[in-house]
Amino acid sequence: MATTITVLSQKGGTGKTTAVRSLADVFSRAGARVLCVDADPQGNLSDYFEVSPDAHPTLGEVLTGRAEPAEAVHDGVIPANLGLAEAELVLAGKLGRELTLRKALREVDGGYDFVLIDCPPTLGLLTVNAVVACDYALLTTEAQYFSLQGVEQALEVVELARENLNPGLGLLGVVLNIADMRTAHSRNTQETLREHFGEAVFQTVIRQSIAYAESAERAVPILDYRPDRGIDYVELSIELLDRLGRPDLRDAAEALKQKLLRARWDGWAAG
Ligand SMILES: Nc1ncnc2c1ncn2[C@@H]1O[C@H](COP(=O)(O)OP(=O)(O)OP(=O)(O)O)[C@@H](O)[C@H]1O
Ligand SMILES: [Mg+2]
Repeated sequence: MATTITVLSQKGGTGKTTAVRSLADVFSRAGARVLCVDADPQGNLSDYFEVSPDAHPTLGEVLTGRAEPAEAVHDGVIPANLGLAEAELVLAGKLGRELTLRKALREVDGGYDFVLIDCPPTLGLLTVNAVVACDYALLTTEAQYFSLQGVEQALEVVELARENLNPGLGLLGVVLNIADMRTAHSRNTQETLREHFGEAVFQTVIRQSIAYAESAERAVPILDYRPDRGIDYVELSIELLDRLGRPDLRDAAEALKQKLLRARWDGWAAG
C-alpha cells in the first residue's frame, strides 16, 4: 500500500508545487516508486513534469466520473488543467463530494511507495479532497509575518478532516520554505513556529534561491540544476523518511546526501 502525502498551505506561493516536485525526485532517486497528483487547476505541477497539455484524461475527468483513475496516469503524474476548476464546481453538488479523490486513488494500483498530492492555494473542496485522501499532511509556509495564522488555518482543515472523514490522518510536519535565514525576520518566524508547533516543525529549512524558479522554467529537477541548493530537499526527505519509519529509503537518501557533499568538496578542491 502506498503512503499518500498531501502538501498544502493556506496561502499561495509557499513552495507547495516545488516541494512535491523535489520530494518526488529525491524519493525516486532513493529507489521509491512515486505517483504525483496535481490537484490544482493552475496545473503548475503538470507543467513542471512537462506533461503534454493534450494529455487526456486528467484529474478533472476522474473527479467527475468521466474517466477511470488509472487512465489518467501519464508518466507517473495525474495532471490537471483549468478543467479541474469546472470539475470542482460539478463536484460541489454531489453527495460524498469530499471523498471522491480518496475513492479514485484507491483504484490506482500501480505498486507505488508514495503518492504525493499538490494542492491549490485555497482551502476549498479540492484541498479538502486531498486531505481526506491522504495518510499524512505536510504543511509549507514562507518565513513571513503571517505564517503563524496561515499554518493554524491549514491545521484546522487537517483537524476537521481527521474528526469527520479521515480519522487515520497524521500530521507529517511543517516546513519553513523559501527562507532567507540571514534575516532576523526569518529567524524570528522560525522561532515562533517552533514555540507553537514544537517538533512538528522540521529542522530542515528550504533556503530561498532563484535557482528554483530557473529550474522550474527549464523543467529540470533542482538536484540536476543546482545540487548545492537541492540538497535542502534531500535533508528534508531524510527527516520525512525518519518520521515515516522508512529506514531503507532514509539510508538511500542519506547516501545521496553524502554523494552530493563529496561532489561539492571535489569541485571545491579542484578549484
Ligand atoms: N526555495 C525557494 N526559493 C526561492 N524561490 C522558490 C523556492 N521554492 C519555490 N520557489 C519559487 O516560488 C514560486 C512559488 O513556488 P511554488 O509554485 O512551488 O509555490 P506554490 O505554493 O505551489 O504556489 P501556488 O500556491 O500558486 O500553487 C515559484 O516561482 C517557485 O519557482
Ligand atoms: Mg502550486
